[in-house]
Amino acid sequence: MVNKITVVGAGNVGATTAQRLAEKELARQVVMVDVVDGVPQGKGLDQWESAPIEGFDTRVIGTNGYDETSESDIVVVTAGIARKPGMSRDDLLNTNAGIVKQVSENIRRSSPNAIIVMVSNPLDAMSYVAMKVTGFPRERVLGMAGVLDTARYRSFIAEALDVSVGDIQAMVLGGHGDTMVPLISYTSVSGIPITQLLDRKTLDAIVDRARNGGAEIVKYLKTGSAYYAPSSAAVQMCEAIVKDKKRILPCAAWLTGEYGMSDIFLGVPCKLGRGGLEKIIEVELTSKERVDLGKSADAVRELINIVKL
Ligand code: APR
Repeated sequence: MVNKITVVGAGNVGATTAQRLAEKELARQVVMVDVVDGVPQGKGLDQWESAPIEGFDTRVIGTNGYDETSESDIVVVTAGIARKPGMSRDDLLNTNAGIVKQVSENIRRSSPNAIIVMVSNPLDAMSYVAMKVTGFPRERVLGMAGVLDTARYRSFIAEALDVSVGDIQAMVLGGHGDTMVPLISYTSVSGIPITQLLDRKTLDAIVDRARNGGAEIVKYLKTGSAYYAPSSAAVQMCEAIVKDKKRILPCAAWLTGEYGMSDIFLGVPCKLGRGGLEKIIEVELTSKERVDLGKSADAVRELINIVKL
C-alpha cells in the first residue's frame, strides 16, 4: 500500500472510487476533495464508518482544501460538471478545463511527486490540461478510458458467449468517445481468437454497443452518467501502480512518436507500475485499425486545440 491517495471530486465517480480504494486498502489514507461544503466530509466519514464492517484500516476523510492532500502518492481527478441543456460541447470542454486547471495547480503545489489518474471528461483533453499545468512528466499523467471501454466490451462478449468475463482478453484503443477503436484482432477467449466464436455481425454489434456504452447508461439514469464501472477502472489503474504490478492496461498516454503520433493523449497499451507509465507497448494494427486510430486522434486533437489554458 502507499501512504496517501487523493480523489478530487466527491460526486458519483469520486466517492465510489474512494470507497473502492479503501476496501482494497491501497493506501493508508484516502482523501476526498470537493468544492461543495460538507459533502466530501460527510461521504468520507460515512465510508470510514463502514471500515469496521468491511474490515479495512484505510482512513477515509473529506475536505474542501488541499492541506490534507499534501504529498499524495496518487491523485485521481474526477472533478467537473456534466453537460447542461443548451451547453455546447465546446462550452463543456472549457468549463471542465477551467476546473481541471485549478485542480492541477493545487496538485502541483501540494503533491509535486504524485501520479495523476485523470477521469474527468473529455478525458484525453483533460489529461493534456493536467500535464501542461503541472509540468509533470508523461510517466505521471495517465487518463482512465481504455480500461473502462475494454471492460464494457469484455462484459458484452461474455454475455454473448455465456462464459466468464475473466476469460475474455481484449484491448480498446483510441480516444474516449465514439471514435474509440476496439481491437477485434487482439480479442480472445482463453487464447481462442474471438472470430472463431462469434460471427462478424454479432461482433460489430458488440463493438457498436461498447462505443456507445457511456450514452447507454446516461439514457437510463437521465440525470447523471456511469460511475460503478468508471470507478472500478480508475481503481484498477491505481492498484497496478500501488502494487507495482507491471500490468498492461489501455490508458490515455502522451505520445512521443508511438503509433506514428506525437503531442497527443491517446488510448494505447501501457505498462503500469510504481513509476506510473513505465512503457507504451506498440502492437501491430490492421490497416483499418490504423486508419480508425488516426481518426480517433484527429477527434482528440480537435478538442485539445479548443482548450484555452
Ligand atoms: N474541485 C473539486 N471538485 C469539484 C470542482 C473543483 N474545482 N468543481 C466541481 N467539483 C465536483 C462537484 O462538486 C461534484 O461533486 O466534482 C463533482 C462531480 O461529481 P458528479 O457531478 O457526481 O459527476 P460524476 O458522475 O462523478 O462524474 C465526474 O467523471 O466520468 C467522468 O464524465 C464524468 O467528467 C465527469 C466526471
